[in-house]
Amino acid sequence: MKFSHPLMHNNFTNSDIRSVSKLLKQKNIILTQSKNVRLFEKNWSKWLGVKYSVFVNSGSSANLLTMTILKMLYKKNEIILPTLTWVSDVNSVILNNFKPVFVDVNLNNLCMSESEILKKINKKTLAVFITHAQGFNGLSRNLLNYLKKKKIILIEDVCESHGATFNKKKLGSFGLISNFSFYYAHHMSTIEGGMICTNSKQIYQMARILRSHGMSREIDNKKEENKIIKKYPKLSPKFIFLYPGYNFRNNEIGAVIGLNQLKLLNKNNLKRKKNFILFLKNLNGKIYKTNFDLTGSCNYAFPLILNKANFSLRNKLEKLLKKNNIEFRRGNAGGGNQLRQPYLKKYLKKINFSKFRNVEHIHNFGYYIGNYPSLNSVKIKKICSILNSI
Ligand SMILES: Cc1ncc(COP(=O)(O)O)c(C=O)c1O
Repeated sequence: MKFSHPLMHNNFTNSDIRSVSKLLKQKNIILTQSKNVRLFEKNWSKWLGVKYSVFVNSGSSANLLTMTILKMLYKKNEIILPTLTWVSDVNSVILNNFKPVFVDVNLNNLCMSESEILKKINKKTLAVFITHAQGFNGLSRNLLNYLKKKKIILIEDVCESHGATFNKKKLGSFGLISNFSFYYAHHMSTIEGGMICTNSKQIYQMARILRSHGMSREIDNKKEENKIIKKYPKLSPKFIFLYPGYNFRNNEIGAVIGLNQLKLLNKNNLKRKKNFILFLKNLNGKIYKTNFDLTGSCNYAFPLILNKANFSLRNKLEKLLKKNNIEFRRGNAGGGNQLRQPYLKKYLKKINFSKFRNVEHIHNFGYYIGNYPSLNSVKIKKICSILNSI
């Protein structure tokens, strides 16, 4: 059989098919958001170590809803975010009329540089919207203490880092709100899907309401729902729209897949961690970056970053990858430096790219390839020997 290494393999399993088929065979089934969604949210909250979770139809929806909630609750206008992230993080900020303030990343964990964050914090800063990129932890004690002292909100995007930790606690349990994605390529999948997590009851209720058109009956509290009904006696009790919202609901099929995948998440993450170490051991550290900060990390992909900023070497690498059917993405998380993307042009004044050196290196000389649980050591060694042959 022809050698190939796709970005993701078998992230939808026979046991997922069985759980969906069991659901579909039930009599009088409800397939729109119902009791399995509730159960998935409950089990996810328990796994993560937070009080509340709200299952939505994508990680991007989780981002957008999160920023909408911040806009509704607070006045300050600046959000600090990384240059290396997924486009929906940036979109959620600008579409909610916040000012995005961009920060360069570290090469050893692909997350925002702490010193750069601290430099950009000012009186207008509302939140730091961190992306724990490609399985790496972006938090430090110093950063958490500083944000607490300055009363700056932390929002965590953990869409690429399910199960990664800081100080033995799962990422996504530190911020006021955290976001996860269950897109096919990630640590676990509901095909498409996302989660908003929080310990705040108020934010939980707002997220539920905003997920369903702004409808008050989603508040998840009979007493409070009745108060709202009384306040608007001229409105149909089931159709009171409190805020301009979205339809970001997921469904029962996604939820049963999520419930099933969650059972295997810890075990699969252990395999991903072992694979990652094998990649590092077998790759030539003179050609590729191998000194990542692995503390607490749990990567669904392997970041392949050339040490040298050399375009002819990069062309050679891309040729080699293509020839051997090793699927890759240039620019690591989200295609590299967001500041170079056309959608941002109208929002930013002149950009001095020399102030964003690390993301520029990743933009031009960084890649990721697949790291999934079904990979074995023979295959990892073969991939590394191909890569080392450049
Ligand atoms: C960091 C990050 N945030 C948000 C998202 C959006 O998630 P989704 O693809 O589920 O919309 C992604 C998706 O890959 C991501 O990597």
